[in-house]
Amino acid sequence: MREVAKVASIIPGNIRMETLIKKTAEYIASSKYAVALTGAGISVESGIPPFRGKGGLWEKFDPMEFAHIDAFMNNPKKVWEMFMREMKGMLVESKPNDAHLGLARLEELGILKTIITQNVDGLHQSAGSKDVIEFHGNFAWLRCLECGHRCQTVDINLDHIPPRCDCGGIYRPDCVFFGEGIPPNELDRSQQAASQCDLMLVIGTSAIVQPSAFMPVIAKQSGATIIEINPEPTPLTGTTSTLLVQEKAGKAMRQIITEVERLLPGKK
Ligand code: APR
Repeated sequence: MREVAKVASIIPGNIRMETLIKKTAEYIASSKYAVALTGAGISVESGIPPFRGKGGLWEKFDPMEFAHIDAFMNNPKKVWEMFMREMKGMLVESKPNDAHLGLARLEELGILKTIITQNVDGLHQSAGSKDVIEFHGNFAWLRCLECGHRCQTVDINLDHIPPRCDCGGIYRPDCVFFGEGIPPNELDRSQQAASQCDLMLVIGTSAIVQPSAFMPVIAKQSGATIIEINPEPTPLTGTTSTLLVQEKAGKAMRQIITEVERLLPGKK
């Protein structure tokens, strides 16, 4: 995982929000194979801060000091103490919002086939989504650096930092750190989903971390329509994406789902 692109400042034409919501719902209702790519922004309304931008975690923590694999291996105690402890507190308390629930509803309707998420919070699964590719792993699980034993993060007592396995090895989260590769199976499945879909919903990602930000490009090159839901434009806006629904994900998805259900009255 690595950060590359610069944020562009292209904002699409002055289309009214109501029209954007309707257009998005029409694309969804007529899609035969929709895929979603989600990022930290989709969980903001669940109380989890994003990484970048105002109030983002990277304002408080330098990612190279706390989220790079070399930093973790050099000083796991520091990374657990300062960063992972806070992550654990945030993630165990959070609940899915209307954007997670909306995507689960689209899967139930048979429209959305797969979610590719960069998030490690497990909220898509809590919302009921079944086919979720966790591109950057999951914080719900820890893995021992020595023997590979896995255990659930909620069960770990953080009185002693770093947490250790019975074998004495240090636990690491089952997430992908900066400087590590994407698990091959997740990468393959994501590329396949991106090249198969006719519609990709890109929700709450700044689209500057690779290779996840390349998935909409693959989808676009394969003929799909790309729609972003994000209060801010991204490097995809006006280049790769056809529409930007410039709104918070939960608020937008609530309206979009109502409209999709109106367009597909026969579907339960
Ligand atoms: N609804 C939708 N989008 C939102 C909302 C909201 N309520 N609030 C903020 N956003 C948008 C921001 O405008 C921004 O574009 O969500 C995006 C969050 O961007 P990042 O913090 O960069 O998150 P993400 O794109 O998921 O980051 C990718 O970077 O640090 C790594 O591993 C980390 O998986 C993460 C990766």
